[in-house]
Amino acid sequence: MKRFLSFVATVLLFAGCQHPGTEPGDTEMDTYISDLMSKMTTQEKIGQLNLVTPGGGILTGSVVSTDVEQKIKTGQVGGIFGVYGPEKTRQAQRLAVEESRLGIPMIFGSDVIHGYKTTFPLPIGLSCTWDMELIKQTASVAAKEATADGIFWNFSPMVDVSRDPRWGRISEGAGEDPFLGSEIARAMVEGYQQKDLRDPTTMLATVKHFALYGAPEAGRDYNTVDMSHLRMFNDYFPPYKAAIEAGVGSVMTSFNDVYGVPASGNKWLLTTILRDMWGFDGFVVSDYTSVNEMIAHGLGDLQQVSAMALKAGLDMDMVGEGFLTTLTQSLEEGMVSEEEINKACRRILEAKYKLGLFQDPYLYFNADRPATDILTPVHRQLARQAAARSMVLLKNDEQLLPLKKSGNIALVGPLVDSRNNMLGTWAPTGEARYAVTVLEGFNNVLGDQVKILHAKGANICNDPDFAKKINVFGPKIFIDERSPEALLKEAISVARRADVIIAVVGEATEMSGESSSRTDISLPMSQKRLLRELGKTGKPLVVVNMSGRPMAIGEEVELADALLQMWHAGVEGGNALADVLFGDYNPSGKLTATFPVNVGQVPIYYSIRNTGRPQGSDEFQKFKSNYLDAPNSPLFPFGYGLSYTSFEYKDLILDKPTLTNLDEIKVSVSVTNSGDYDGEEVVQLYVRDMVASITPPMRLLKGFNKVFIPKGDTKEVTFTIRAQDLAFYHPDLSFYAEPGEFKVFVGGNSNASLSASFTLE
Ligand code: NOJ
Repeated sequence: MKRFLSFVATVLLFAGCQHPGTEPGDTEMDTYISDLMSKMTTQEKIGQLNLVTPGGGILTGSVVSTDVEQKIKTGQVGGIFGVYGPEKTRQAQRLAVEESRLGIPMIFGSDVIHGYKTTFPLPIGLSCTWDMELIKQTASVAAKEATADGIFWNFSPMVDVSRDPRWGRISEGAGEDPFLGSEIARAMVEGYQQKDLRDPTTMLATVKHFALYGAPEAGRDYNTVDMSHLRMFNDYFPPYKAAIEAGVGSVMTSFNDVYGVPASGNKWLLTTILRDMWGFDGFVVSDYTSVNEMIAHGLGDLQQVSAMALKAGLDMDMVGEGFLTTLTQSLEEGMVSEEEINKACRRILEAKYKLGLFQDPYLYFNADRPATDILTPVHRQLARQAAARSMVLLKNDEQLLPLKKSGNIALVGPLVDSRNNMLGTWAPTGEARYAVTVLEGFNNVLGDQVKILHAKGANICNDPDFAKKINVFGPKIFIDERSPEALLKEAISVARRADVIIAVVGEATEMSGESSSRTDISLPMSQKRLLRELGKTGKPLVVVNMSGRPMAIGEEVELADALLQMWHAGVEGGNALADVLFGDYNPSGKLTATFPVNVGQVPIYYSIRNTGRPQGSDEFQKFKSNYLDAPNSPLFPFGYGLSYTSFEYKDLILDKPTLTNLDEIKVSVSVTNSGDYDGEEVVQLYVRDMVASITPPMRLLKGFNKVFIPKGDTKEVTFTIRAQDLAFYHPDLSFYAEPGEFKVFVGGNSNASLSASFTLE
């Protein structure tokens, strides 16, 4: 590690690395805080490093804080989460402000991951919109609603790149790509924080989970992460860095270890990378009891791991109270210094200052706001739009979709009438009662025009032991009193009477999310059986897959005439699904994580490097890099998604053949809407570095543009490429582009074939 540090230092020295997040010191703030800190005892400073949750909400660990009230009054709490509503938050703040010795206000946090009460689609769904303005708007609506309820510090965005759909938290991120992930990270930070943190409708954002949480071995949550620096810097770090460049106020550490050191005690991550290389000047919070968990990782007792975390650069300890209970002793014993405690305390006080809390500690507790700012019709409308735009059309044989608003429809499947599964995982502030189910959505959109014949058809799964694991936060898998055979029989009889079958299948919400890894990412057998039987009726079959992860649904793709990936789509999911299936909205979503053929292909992603024995086609060839029992190609690639219309790409033109460090190349392409519907297309630009000093990825996303094109029209879409867009990290962590030939590909998914070349001089 030491050698690596000097390495980085050398790179910093010679590459003249910038500190993008560093702003000139705010002397007023510095003076205010220095003055305040001069009055604080060491215990009070350590108190600021303590983040508590009194329980009552949804817990993500096995412990909750105790004696919270007493601790607040005695200056032992810097922040609190899991308390909601302006009255309750005000009451808690009053304890800090009016009853503690120095009256230092607390910050109030929460996980507002995909909306507050107006729950938007899961983040992976939102990412499939490829619409940064929309994503930003969802974040600002979330901030407006959360702050109306007294919450002004958000544990979002989660930007962990993941290429492993076994990992349940792939649902909470933006998928597999660092470029797209960085754009989304920026949009979310800007949406939450906007221009002024003192504005009571904005909230301080937290980028998480630093670092590499999305790459646990075997896709098992919290598991060991071990990867090369090249991969970290090129593929996994960019979204965190983008959030920091966008000015994110705090960073949350991850549960996993990185290079053998748990992130919460990893000085290389928290100081060398985060602060020295990237210039982060906010504060770092641990994940839930992740400091204490370093004991189980094998790093020592509570005193040792807490000291290690502080020294590494961790500022705030979530729930575990290792800081609170051991740092005084560690200070006496010389394990930590007063200066280290001061640094952490100052960073937290700075955040409070920036939030305006020292001017008005009750700024965010306005009892009138919930009624006017939460779940407004405008917010719900945005949720409906976001949900419709997050859906990805994966198959549409013979233009079965959009359906006509007439005739008889069999609406079948365990997720048709399942309010508890609409919001999606990790919506702890959302409430299922506000969600529109699929059945309700169909009724809302179709009225009397269509006869809807509904049957459940199958349980999400038939295994009560599995259901018990999923139902920890309330009933999500409900095993019907009727036998699986009876459910099936009813569905078949309904299907026979219909003109078309729509089957809504997939995962219960808690089949993805935290601690919800799966080794089998196909549909549970109960639902597979349902689809097989529906397929046998010979009726046109539309399959809607509602899930929190990419799934291995090859068999279902075969069975279905049309297949739509819905994700868990939030409060307006039911309405939005009807909007899409009946053509009120022409789908425009594109996958942001590859759908594998089977779990054996995982980890899987588009930006692969060639081996020395690349396989030319999907046919098995001995001594080539392939499988005996599956193709290399995925079921659906990154960037893929259909529309009810069709788009034709032509005239890919580069405005010059060579690029230098000083100029830029314009890449333009003509996109024609050649189908029968107006529609939007996500035009994607990929670049391949043909020869480099390290094996270059076969292609990398370098630009995208979502455009609306009326039917029959053509739009010219232009991208700009500069040398710095072609730069990558080298083994010595220097970052530059190498001269030579580059090939660009433009199209509607990561297999785009329209190409042209240029040379970087
Ligand atoms: C644990 C999760 O990993 C993290 O994302 C979340 O913010 C905390 N729990 C607090 O709820």
